[in-house]
Amino acid sequence: MKISIFGLGYVGSVTAACFADKGHDVIGVEVNPDKLALFRAGQTPLFEPGLAELLAKVHGAGRFDATADAAEAIRGSSISFICVGTPSKKGGHADLSHVEHVSQEIGEALRGKQGTHTVVVRSTMLPGSIEGVVIPQIESASGKREGQDFHVVANPEFMREGSAIRDFYEPPFVVIGERRAGVGEALAELYHCVDAPQVRITIRAAEAIKFACNAFHALKITFANEIGQFCKAHGIDSHEVMDIVCRDTKLNISKTYLQPGLAYGGSCLPKDLRALVGRARENDVELPMLEAIAKSNLNQIQRTIDFITEVGHREVGILGLSFKVGTDDLRESPLVIMAETLLGKGFKLAIRDSDVELTRLTGANKRFLEEKLPHINSLLSASLEEVVVRSKVLVVCKNAPEYRELPRLISPHHHIVDLVAALKSAKIPTAQYHGLYW
Ligand SMILES: NC(=O)c1ccc[n+]([C@@H]2O[C@H](COP(=O)([O-])OP(=O)(O)OC[C@H]3O[C@@H](n4cnc5c(N)ncnc54)[C@H](O)[C@@H]3O)[C@@H](O)[C@H]2O)c1
Repeated sequence: MKISIFGLGYVGSVTAACFADKGHDVIGVEVNPDKLALFRAGQTPLFEPGLAELLAKVHGAGRFDATADAAEAIRGSSISFICVGTPSKKGGHADLSHVEHVSQEIGEALRGKQGTHTVVVRSTMLPGSIEGVVIPQIESASGKREGQDFHVVANPEFMREGSAIRDFYEPPFVVIGERRAGVGEALAELYHCVDAPQVRITIRAAEAIKFACNAFHALKITFANEIGQFCKAHGIDSHEVMDIVCRDTKLNISKTYLQPGLAYGGSCLPKDLRALVGRARENDVELPMLEAIAKSNLNQIQRTIDFITEVGHREVGILGLSFKVGTDDLRESPLVIMAETLLGKGFKLAIRDSDVELTRLTGANKRFLEEKLPHINSLLSASLEEVVVRSKVLVVCKNAPEYRELPRLISPHHHIVDLVAALKSAKIPTAQYHGLYW
C-alpha cells in the first residue's frame, strides 16, 4: 500500500518505520525543518530503541522518505495517518490546533485528487473531535464529502515510549473506529501484519477507548502508590502485598467489577474502605484517591435516583434489594439507600428480590433494613407479575434470571430502567428502555 504519515513524532515515526518494514511505501510529512532533514537522510531525532536502525533500513530500501509537502504526500498515497501532537492547553483542555491545521492541509490536497482516499486519525482526541473537527475541516477545505469522496477512520495508538516498536507489532488490540461498517477495510487489511485481534466500533467509542485506557493506567499507578504509602506506614513491604494482590486473576486483575452500572455496597467494601482511610488519617498518611472513592460511590447512587426520576412516573418497581445476586445481605446495599431516598421523595414503590425473605433476616442485616425501610412489608411483592401491575417504571437492579421475563410481561405504557445491562440485548422498544450508561 502507499501510505502517508502526517507528523513524525514518536507515534508517526514508529508507525512509518514499521509499515515500511512490512513492505509498504511510506512518505512522512513533517513541518519541523530540522526533524525533516534528518528523516530525509534516513535518520531520526528521537531516541527510541530500534527505531534508528529500522528507519535507516527502510530508507535504504527506498520504502521510506519524508517531505514538507502535504499535497505531494496525498497524491502519492491512498491512505494517510494523522499523528500530530494534541498537547494540553492551560486549564487542561486539549489543543487541537495541529490537528486542525493538518486536516486543512489534507483537505486542500484532496481537492485536486481523483479517486477515494482514507484518512486515519491516530492522534489522541476526546470523543466527538473527529466528527466535530477533522471531518468538517477536510470537507470544507476539499469541497468533498466524507463517506462519498473520502473516508475518515479512528485508530488510537497504544504504544509506549521505550518499547514502541514491540508495542506496534504486539498491541493488545487494533481498534478501528468507523462511521459506516466496512469503511475501515483498507486499514484492517494493512494491520494484518500485526499480531492482535481487531476491534471494529464507532468513531466516538474508538476515541473514548484511548482515554479509558490511559485513565485506567494512571489509576493503577496511583492505587499502587497509595497502597505503598499505607503499607510503609505499617512497616509492611508493599511490593510483597501488591505482588500477591496481582496473583488474583479472578477478582483483581480481571474483567470483574469493571462494568459501569450499580454503586458498590454490602457489608465489606464500604466498611473496609472506611477503616483503611481512617487508619491512614490517624497515621498522617494522605490517600486522596482512596478517600475519594466513597464520595464517587455516593454520587453514583444519586445519579441512579436522578435517572429514575427523569423518566417522569411516580409508580416505580425496584427489582433487587440486596447488593448483588445470590445474597440476602442488605447492609449498606445501594439499592436500599436508593429505595429510601425515592420513598422520601414521594415515589410509590413496589419491591421484589427473590434472594430476600424477611422472616429469615436477623441481626445487623435486619436492623439496617428496619431503619432504612420501616414499611418494607407493604412494599414487597410476591411475584414479578405483581410488581409489573403496581408500577409504571421497572428498575432492574440485579442481573437475576427472573427479570428476563420482563419483556414478555410489560405493556406499552411501562418503562424499563436497566442499571446493570441485564436486558441490554432483549427485544424492548427503544422508547421504553433506558440503559444507565449504554
Ligand atoms: N508518545 C506516545 O507514547 C503516544 C502514545 C500513544 C498516543 N499518542 C498520541 O499520539 C499523538 C502524537 O504523539 P507524539 O508523541 O508522536 O507527538 P510529537 O509531539 O512527538 O510529534 C508530533 C509531530 O507532528 C509534527 N507536526 C505538527 N503539525 C504538523 C503538520 N501540520 N504537518 C506535519 N507534521 C506536523 C510536529 O512537528 C511533531 O514532529 C498525540 O495525540 C499523543 O497523545 C502518543
